[in-house]
Amino acid sequence: MRRFFVRALVRPLALAAAATGIPLLYATPVAADSVVIGSFPIDVSASPWTVALSSRDRFGGTRAGQFCGGVVIGRTTVLTAAHCMGEDVLGVSPQRVGDLKVIANRTDLLSRGGQEIPVRAVRVSPDYDSRTNAEDYALLTLAEPLPQSSVIEMAAAGDPAYRPGTGAMVSGWGDLTGGGDYARSLRATRLHVLSDARCEKAYPNGAEGAYLARSMLCAGEPAGGHDACQGDSGGPLVAQGKLIGLVSWGSGCGRAQNPGVYTRVSEVVRARERSAGAAVPRDAR
Ligand code: ARG
Repeated sequence: MRRFFVRALVRPLALAAAATGIPLLYATPVAADSVVIGSFPIDVSASPWTVALSSRDRFGGTRAGQFCGGVVIGRTTVLTAAHCMGEDVLGVSPQRVGDLKVIANRTDLLSRGGQEIPVRAVRVSPDYDSRTNAEDYALLTLAEPLPQSSVIEMAAAGDPAYRPGTGAMVSGWGDLTGGGDYARSLRATRLHVLSDARCEKAYPNGAEGAYLARSMLCAGEPAGGHDACQGDSGGPLVAQGKLIGLVSWGSGCGRAQNPGVYTRVSEVVRARERSAGAAVPRDAR
C-alpha cells in the first residue's frame, strides 16, 4: 500500500529546510504528516473481508508468507487475482503449493490473531488472459468456513458504486514506497473511481498494458499518491459498502498519470450467474 508520492515529498522537505534554516533532520515530521494523507493503518475489524494469501514454503516466514491479498465473498470462498495464482508469482502451479493458506481477521501478519485456513481448491477464471490481464480473478475454496461477518457483497453491473467519482477504499499488506518496503500491518487508502475515458487515456494500447473497460476499472486521485502497489494484488476495492474491484495492475505506484487498475467485480458476478443457470456445470464443459 503506497503511503505517499516520493517525488512530491522531496520538495516540501527541501523547501522547509531552506526557509527555516533548520537542518533536514528536523524536517522528518513533515514526511510523517505526508504519510497520514496517503495510506493509513487500519484494524482488520474495519475491513474484515480483507485477507492475506500465504505460503511460507514459497515466500518464507518473515511476513507469515504473505504474497497477495484476497477478499471473503462467501464463508468458504475467497476471491483473489488470477495472476496471484500464476507460475511467475508462485514459481509452480498453485496445486503444487502444499501450504497455500488464507490468513483472515489478522491485522499484524506476525501476530497470532484470526485464522489461518488451508485452501482446498483453486479455480482461475477460464476467461483470464495473462497477456492482457483481462478477467484477472480466481476463486479459492477454504477448508473451513469463516464467520459470516467477514463476508462482503459483490456489486453487480449497473450498481451505483461503479459510477465515476464514487469514493472508494483499497486495503492490503503491500509495498509502502514502491521500493520493496512491505507492510507488516494492514493499511488502507482512499481514492475515487475514474471514468473509463480517463483510464483508457492513461493506458492506451501500449507497452504499459491496455485498459479494457469490460473487465477492468481504474481508481486514483488527481495528484497521485494514493494507490495500491506490489503485494496488494487480489485485495479489495470497496465503495458504498460493496466490493467493486480487485487490485490487478498499474504502471509504478501512486503516479498522478497512472491510476491503479482493478478487476471489475461485476464480471465475477456475471460469470457466476451464468454458471449457476447452466444445466451443465461450468467445469464439465
Ligand atoms: N500486480 C501487483 C501485485 O501483484 C499489483 C500492482 C498494483 N499497482 C498499482 N499501481 N495499483 O501485487
